[in-house]
Amino acid sequence: MRVLVTGGAGFIGSHVVEALLGDGRQVVVVDNLSHGLRAFVPPAAEFIQGDVLEADQWADQVGPVDAVIHLAAQISVPVSEAEPEEDVRTNVLGTVAMLKLAHRLGAREFRFASSAAVYGDNPHVPLAEEASGDPLSYYGLDKWLAEFYVRHEERVRGLKGTVLRMANVYGPRQRTQGEGGVVAMFSEALAQGLAPTIFGDGMQTRDFIAVADVARAFTHRLGEREPGGTYNIATETATTVGEVWRILATEAGADPARINYGPDRPGDIRHSRLKIARALAWGFRATVPLPEGLKETYAYFRKVASQG
Ligand SMILES: NC(=O)c1ccc[n+]([C@@H]2O[C@H](COP(=O)([O-])OP(=O)(O)OC[C@H]3O[C@@H](n4cnc5c(N)ncnc54)[C@H](O)[C@@H]3O)[C@@H](O)[C@H]2O)c1
Repeated sequence: MRVLVTGGAGFIGSHVVEALLGDGRQVVVVDNLSHGLRAFVPPAAEFIQGDVLEADQWADQVGPVDAVIHLAAQISVPVSEAEPEEDVRTNVLGTVAMLKLAHRLGAREFRFASSAAVYGDNPHVPLAEEASGDPLSYYGLDKWLAEFYVRHEERVRGLKGTVLRMANVYGPRQRTQGEGGVVAMFSEALAQGLAPTIFGDGMQTRDFIAVADVARAFTHRLGEREPGGTYNIATETATTVGEVWRILATEAGADPARINYGPDRPGDIRHSRLKIARALAWGFRATVPLPEGLKETYAYFRKVASQG
């Protein structure tokens, strides 16, 4: 099986590529390196530097594929509010372009990286997939809209579409900007001996999931003959941002009181927790315990800091 992974030089994408290669799949990565790093792409994967909005420039190099996993995106909520047209271009038009390309390359299956941001600040947590979308940001709106195009292609042209709505993903290789970057931000600051900033009071809760689990979700039942679907990829566990800070600071041997507080960020959700019943019925369950995942993430950032 040959798989095209867009955004495969990014944080989640590079782990997805590793998981696919581990399963014996052939992988082609397309990434414009606007936020990803060439060094994150394993040597066993083919790499094309290209933009999802300029597929005509590189599509001929890809060759036939069985599936497209589309992760390339503008990932920052604040950027989506400051530059909404850019977010629409990358996250909506970019997804439409990749759906079109999937047909052209003969793919039968399309997996789309969506987000808990599609739910907005819905108070009825944990949120099931049916919870109506009420996004708080252009980022959430554009991910939600893109999901409709995935469904449309499935209905009209039979391209199987699997939408994975991820909660807050954390782990090695996460960059310090962007959605869900709080673990990376804290880990990097601790590794450099700095005091990070919590935006808000630290009592906001998130449903943190390790990137290793997320990578397994993207490869789970890939290529199987089953209908597409929309799945929350989460742990259904709420953890405050302040608690994450305490675990990481303790792991690093730092004083948890050494922290700054800043204003809430516009577009941020207060409480986010996703129901996982549908993913469980699909056969997927996250297995990495949070303290273990945080420990591994901090060790990665300490290694990066020690390499200068
Ligand atoms: N990190 C999270 O917590 C989280 C949560 C929910 C959803 N997601 C989604 O998962 C996906 C991956 O996120 P990530 O955290 O790994 O971010 P990332 O920025 O590390 O990865 C995105 C990759 O896409 C590339 N890219 C961006 N625009 C591109 C374009 N126009 N053409 C080609 N490549 C482009 C970037 O260079 C980067 O390598 C995104 O779609 C994001 O919205 C992430």
